[in-house]
Amino acid sequence: MAAAGSGHENWSSRSAFILAAVGSAVGLGNMWRFPAEAGENGGGAFVLFYIFCVILIGLPVLLSEVLIGRHGQANAPESVRRLARDSNASEGWSILGSMGVFAAFLILSFYCVVGGWVAYYIGVFVSDLFQTGLTGGAFEGRDPTDIEGLLPGLFGNGGLMVGLNLGFLAVTMFFVARGVSSGIEWVAVYLMPLFFVLFLCITIYGAFTGNFGDAVAYLFTFDFSKLTGEVMLAAVGQAFFSLSLGVAGMMTYGAYANRDTNLGETSGIIAVADTGVAMLAGLAIFPIVFAAGLSASAGPGLMFQSLPIAFQAMPFGSLIGLAFFIMVFFAALTSSVSLLEAPTAYVFEKFKMPRMVATLIVGGGAAVLGVLSSLSFNDMAEFYPLGFIPLFAETNFFDTLDGVTAKLFMPIGAILTCIFVGWIADTKLIDDENGLDGLLHKTWRALVRFVCPAALLVILIMGLLG
Ligand code: TRP
Repeated sequence: MAAAGSGHENWSSRSAFILAAVGSAVGLGNMWRFPAEAGENGGGAFVLFYIFCVILIGLPVLLSEVLIGRHGQANAPESVRRLARDSNASEGWSILGSMGVFAAFLILSFYCVVGGWVAYYIGVFVSDLFQTGLTGGAFEGRDPTDIEGLLPGLFGNGGLMVGLNLGFLAVTMFFVARGVSSGIEWVAVYLMPLFFVLFLCITIYGAFTGNFGDAVAYLFTFDFSKLTGEVMLAAVGQAFFSLSLGVAGMMTYGAYANRDTNLGETSGIIAVADTGVAMLAGLAIFPIVFAAGLSASAGPGLMFQSLPIAFQAMPFGSLIGLAFFIMVFFAALTSSVSLLEAPTAYVFEKFKMPRMVATLIVGGGAAVLGVLSSLSFNDMAEFYPLGFIPLFAETNFFDTLDGVTAKLFMPIGAILTCIFVGWIADTKLIDDENGLDGLLHKTWRALVRFVCPAALLVILIMGLLG
C-alpha cells in the first residue's frame, strides 16, 4: 500500500495499471451487451460504426480521461478541479467529474443485477455437470425451450434475483474495501489472465464448430441504409460503455498511475484489447446462434439463452458452459470493481472517512437501486420511471438506468471532457501527461478539440430526435 506524495494509493507497476484498466473495460459490455446491441441494431452497420467510434472518439477520450486523473492524483471531481485550477480556469468544471461519479454509481447498480444472472448460470452448469456427466452435451435430454426458459424462470423469482444481485455487489464491495493495491489490483492481476486463457479456448472452439461464415457476414457487412440516428447513438453508447468512458471510471484509475507510465501507449493497449474481446465475443456467440437456427436479435437473451442451447450440442457441453460463465464472472467482477471505485474514492476523499465506510455507503445505495432493478423483471415490470420521455417510454427501471447512462450521461460527459481537455486546460500541462509526440500528438489534439465534440453532439441530437 505504497502511498504517493499526495497521500493516496498507486498501482504497484505499469502492468498492474494496464491489467486493471483492461479489466475495467472488458466485462459484461463485451460479452453480453455488445452482441445484444449488435443483434438488436441490425449487425454490420452497427458494428462498423462502433469500431469507427472506438478509434475516432473512444480512444482520444480515453486518453483525455486518464490524463486528467493522473494530473490530479485524486478522485474524478477533485482531479478535474485541480487541472482547472492549475490552468487558471473555473473550478466549476469539476461538475464533469461529479456527473461521472453519479453515473458510475447508477451503472454499478444495474451491472450487479446482470452479475447475479452470471452467478446463477454458474450454479446451473455446476448442477448440470453433476447430473449429466462430463463428456456429453449440457442439459442432456432436455427440450431447448426448457433451456431458454431458465432466464425467464430466474426473472420470475424476485427473491432469488435480489439475493444474487446483492451477492454480486457484496463480492465487489469486498475487493474495493481492501483498497487499490491489495484489492482492486489483486482481482485484475489474477483474474484477467485467467479470463484471457478461457476466452481464447472458447472462441477457437466456436470458430471451428459453429456457423462462422454467416457470423462474419452478419457482423461485418456494412449496409448504409441501416445506419439511422438511433443506431449511431446506440453504437457510441456501446463504445463508451465498453471502454468505461464518459463516467469518471478511467479518470479514477488514471489517478493511481505512476509518472513514468506512458498514457498514450496505455490507452492504445486498453482500446485494442477491449475491442478485440468484443469482436471475438461476437465471433464466438453468433456462429453458435446461427448454427442452432436462433435469432440474432434476441437481445439480452443472446448470451444467457441462446448460448446455453448451443452448449447442449457440444461434447463436454456442461464443462464448457461452466468455464464460459466463470470467465464472464471474472470479467464482470473486474469491471464492477471499477464502477464502485469511482464513487467510493470520491466519498472517502471528500468526506475524509475510512475507505471501508465509504464502500458501505456507496454499496448500500447501489443495493437499493439494484433491488428496484431486479424487481423490474417481475413485480415492478410495469413501472416506467421516465415514461413521460419518448426515448424511455415503456422502459422499466433496469433499462432506464442503462439507457440514461449510455445515451445521455456518457456522451454528455465525453463532450464536456473534450471541451475541457481540448480548449480549457493548459496545453503545457496536458502535453506533460499524454505521452504523444509528432503527428500522433497533432491528430489527437485535433480529434479532441474538433472531431469528437462535434461528432458526439450531432450523434446525440440525431439519436434523441429518433
Ligand atoms: N466497461 C465495462 C464493461 O464493458 C463496464 C464498466 C466498467 C464501465 N467501468 C465502467 C462502464 C465505467 C462505464 C464506466 O463491462
